Amino acid sequence: MKVLTILGSPKKNGKTAKVISMLEKNLILQGHEMEQIHVADYKINGCLGCNVCHSKAEQPYCIQKDDLKTIFLQMMSADVIVYASPLYAFSFPAQMKSLIDRHYCFITNPGQPNESSVIQCKHVALLMTCCDPIENNADLAPIMFERMFRWLKCYICGKYIVELSYSPDFESRAEQISKTMAYEITKY
Ligand SMILES: Cc1cc2nc3c(=O)[nH]c(=O)nc-3n(C[C@H](O)[C@H](O)[C@H](O)COP(=O)(O)O)c2cc1C
Repeated sequence: MKVLTILGSPKKNGKTAKVISMLEKNLILQGHEMEQIHVADYKINGCLGCNVCHSKAEQPYCIQKDDLKTIFLQMMSADVIVYASPLYAFSFPAQMKSLIDRHYCFITNPGQPNESSVIQCKHVALLMTCCDPIENNADLAPIMFERMFRWLKCYICGKYIVELSYSPDFESRAEQISKTMAYEITKY
């Protein structure tokens, strides 16, 4: 299987990138391949809310001429997409949030009986790191992720959080989670 990880941290070599490298090692051991993109390397503007995307036959369509289409094409070529991100202010960093907001144009005929999604049935997973405990902290972002990707008609194959990213046992917990994750997100 081909797994695409989309790193939403502004940092290329931070804690989330560390977990991605562990995930990659485990995926390769299991015979899969992984591609990575770093959102900060792309120009992804915030959504303008113009709704033009929902009135066009061409799909997906967005009036903004930035790198969304490039990322979309990489998403389409993957079997599984992992949204990997640090937790920022109980949510996603602006770079990742912009990308997720722009998924709005992946839906056609919203609210109509013929509503559909250009990423329908795509397998997606969430991977987050955060410096505090999960409880009362990293519990909202996975709910937002679940709602958004359910609306996009994707198959959510896992949500993984590596908490306490500055504690000395971060790497051993991350190793364990990435091993489980590599198995679970590719089992279908
Ligand atoms: C602007 C900002 C906001 C943050 N907000 C939270 C937060 O709400 N909860 C939390 O546990 N950690 C928070 N953190 C810590 C990061 O989520 C954590 O250090 C993460 O592992 C960093 O990953 P990275 O190195 O891949 O960027 C925040 C960090 C920054 C810079």
